[in-house]
Amino acid sequence: MEKGGVTSLPPPISRTCPCSNLLPRSKGVNLSTGHREIIIMTDGYLWFEGLPFPSIDYSYEGLKEACTKFVIKDEDTVMVSYPKSGTHWLIEILCLIHSKGDTTWIRSVSIWDRVPWLETDTGYKMLKEREGPRLLASHLPFHLFPKSFFTSKAKVIYIMRNPKDALVSGYYYWTMTKFSKKPESLDQYFQWFLQGYVPYGSWFEHIRGWMSMRDRENVLLLSYEDLQKDPRSTIEEICQFLGKKLNPEELDSVLKNSSFHVMKENKMSNLETLPETHVDKDFKITRKGICGDWKNHLTGAQAEAFDKVYQEKMLGFPKELFPWE
Ligand code: A3P
Repeated sequence: MEKGGVTSLPPPISRTCPCSNLLPRSKGVNLSTGHREIIIMTDGYLWFEGLPFPSIDYSYEGLKEACTKFVIKDEDTVMVSYPKSGTHWLIEILCLIHSKGDTTWIRSVSIWDRVPWLETDTGYKMLKEREGPRLLASHLPFHLFPKSFFTSKAKVIYIMRNPKDALVSGYYYWTMTKFSKKPESLDQYFQWFLQGYVPYGSWFEHIRGWMSMRDRENVLLLSYEDLQKDPRSTIEEICQFLGKKLNPEELDSVLKNSSFHVMKENKMSNLETLPETHVDKDFKITRKGICGDWKNHLTGAQAEAFDKVYQEKMLGFPKELFPWE
């Protein structure tokens, strides 16, 4: 495979197989025959609606139920993002705003219990049983998001990030975790990313879908880059969007306790308590936490190939909408 170029990938293997117990499997619909059958995942992903998903804590039936049946309530707040865009940082901020800067909650309850993931089996179960205003997180692309949202007053905060940084961050994340297919090299992951052969599919489709909601009153669009540049103002913007008033001391605490270095030391937030069946030893979600790390990883040819695809796929979107070059 030529460095920096884009090659085609083999399609996911899907076949009727009544007997194989050796491979992860799930029930699905064969798109060519329309018949319900067992889909064998020989490629390390769980396939749902033509998109690759992680295979630990995700199931075909679970995804189907979350996407088609979950009822989003008016008082819910949903944090949505493409993977590796700063979601856990945003979640930490939301939790701290929720507790008015008090750190008891973020230090005693794991981040995935505080804010369950809608489309995971565990998160979905927790959310269904949860009363009152709920905080929830999701990486679902716009077209799969529960339709109940569109008739609700629930608030969505969508965080986006320079896709080249999301790519590099994703390469490390999927390499150090066992949730999904592992790339053999950054170059291979680079190819996969451009073709959407990564968990949750194409970055371009994700952003294009959610961008269509940007003028809605109950949707706030944020970027990892703005959060880095001016975290205080961005946190104030979130408070205003949520109708929360914090005094200066409370705001200082949100700022301090959601900072990269404090979050990196909080084992309830940095994912270090995940078992070794799920992640490599010493794994933490807080890897580097900077903007522009792609410059340390992508070759000139890769950056050029990326820009070419970006320009094609993002045609029609004003550059000013995005805080990266
Ligand atoms: P890097 O891998 O580039 O360091 P997500 O939560 O969507 O999976 O995103 C993970 C990325 O957010 C990682 O990026 C991680 O380091 C970064 N991150 C997590 N907490 C952060 C914080 N408090 N401040 C800045 N970046 C943070």
